[in-house]
Amino acid sequence: MLNNSINPPRDCPLCPRLFQFRMENAKTHPDWFNAPVPGFGDPNTQLLIAGLAPGLKGANKTGRPFTGDYAGDLLYATLSKFGFAIGEYQARPDDGLVLKNALITNAVKCVPPQNKPTGEEMKTCRPFLLNQIKALPHLKIILALGGIAHRSIVAAFDRRQVDFPFGHGKCHDLGGGLTLMDSYHCSRYNTNTRRLTEEMFETVFSQIRDMLD
Ligand code: URA
Repeated sequence: MLNNSINPPRDCPLCPRLFQFRMENAKTHPDWFNAPVPGFGDPNTQLLIAGLAPGLKGANKTGRPFTGDYAGDLLYATLSKFGFAIGEYQARPDDGLVLKNALITNAVKCVPPQNKPTGEEMKTCRPFLLNQIKALPHLKIILALGGIAHRSIVAAFDRRQVDFPFGHGKCHDLGGGLTLMDSYHCSRYNTNTRRLTEEMFETVFSQIRDMLD
């Protein structure tokens, strides 16, 4: 099934705990998406944004990354501000929003209990992330939102974690013209504690804008 699939099938059974959690959520909320959330955006993109995993009542409910999640409010507003999103983000997958030169995915495609995927789940889902990366012919920058997504990308490229330490605003050369860029995750916790401010997030996007055509 993995081979070169970019997204897992709706009934992906590869992570027993995540499969079980999806089944439970499907029982309680049959109207929610409750499946691996596929990437969203421009297949000709130069920028790939990698989040951690769908939020229970956000992407897992709506079926589009960061859509309906608190973190999505800041992410989509910033994408719009820097010209990567056209249309009005309304926290619904049918809001007509179109991404231009950006694509959003998650390191883990299924919602994890307590928002915390295990190391094993990260590893199991990693081939989908790698296939997504390989399928983007014009890719120049991967923006990792948070240390966990960052480490999953470093692992996907078979690099040593010690050589690529996570740091907000840092750029890492992955070779082949590809840059890994880091930002603190735009989660409610990080913005409430001001670990990440709107200004800090915008500085990252302004740097990205300058690096792209
Ligand atoms: N929603 C997502 O899709 N990904 C995250 O990392 C957080 C919220």
